[in-house]
Amino acid sequence: MYLLIPAAGSGRRMGSAWQSQSKAPRNKLLLDLLGKPLLAWTLLAAEASQTIAWIGIMGQPIDWDDFKAIVHSLNLTKPVHFIQGGATRQESVYNGLRALPDAAEHVLIHDGARCLATPELFDRCSQALQSCDGFVAAIPVKDTIKVVNATGVIDSTPNRSQLWAAQTPQGFSVPLLKKCHAEGRDNGWEVTDDAALFEQCGLAVQIVEGEETNLKVTTPMDLAIAESILRARLF
Ligand code: CTP
Ligand code: MG
Repeated sequence: MYLLIPAAGSGRRMGSAWQSQSKAPRNKLLLDLLGKPLLAWTLLAAEASQTIAWIGIMGQPIDWDDFKAIVHSLNLTKPVHFIQGGATRQESVYNGLRALPDAAEHVLIHDGARCLATPELFDRCSQALQSCDGFVAAIPVKDTIKVVNATGVIDSTPNRSQLWAAQTPQGFSVPLLKKCHAEGRDNGWEVTDDAALFEQCGLAVQIVEGEETNLKVTTPMDLAIAESILRARLF
């Protein structure tokens, strides 16, 4: 299985976490989490997966040296390819898709910032692509969600039993996802995940059970939560 890791963001919402680590703000994937950069944890899970055989990381040139040092330090057995990221996550994935070898029929896309995903989740996701063309890992929503209008008043309360919180990995047939990305570019669709492009094109996207601990590290609070989850897992 081919894995693409979007890692080309700048971690704007993580700003203050760098202060506590006494460093100037950089890509949040370089932040320390229990002695390793965030990206290292993501890569270790991919390395331990039984199904992933090829890894592509989309990054910004400013981070290449650091990313290469991380990959080198982990002594990975799987090939890792560095791919130029884009101005948006959508563009980064588009670049990643174009860098896949011709032989790639299916691909998993997994945010570098979801550094607590387990190898078992990767393998369950790879398995899912044997019986569908598109899936997202997701978990049932626990909160009651409100749709709110521009004046701050609630418009509606969707039935929670139908709501799922989307995570990554997300996985797709490579030719179909390429087509959806091309369609998205032609029509100026701006989306925050790849499933949304698949949906917009009228293609079915299956749900695969995600993991409650598979949070996306977005704010300094997420970093603190990730640390406590990892501690409980390791010690
Ligand atoms: N990402 C990317 N290319 C971009 C923007 C984001 O590959 N141009 C990646 C991030 O590196 C991250 C994932 O997409 O692994 C999810 O994005 P997000 O959590 O929003 O990360 P950032 O964009 O870095 O954070 P922020 O939005 O707070 O600036
Ligand atoms: Mg972002």
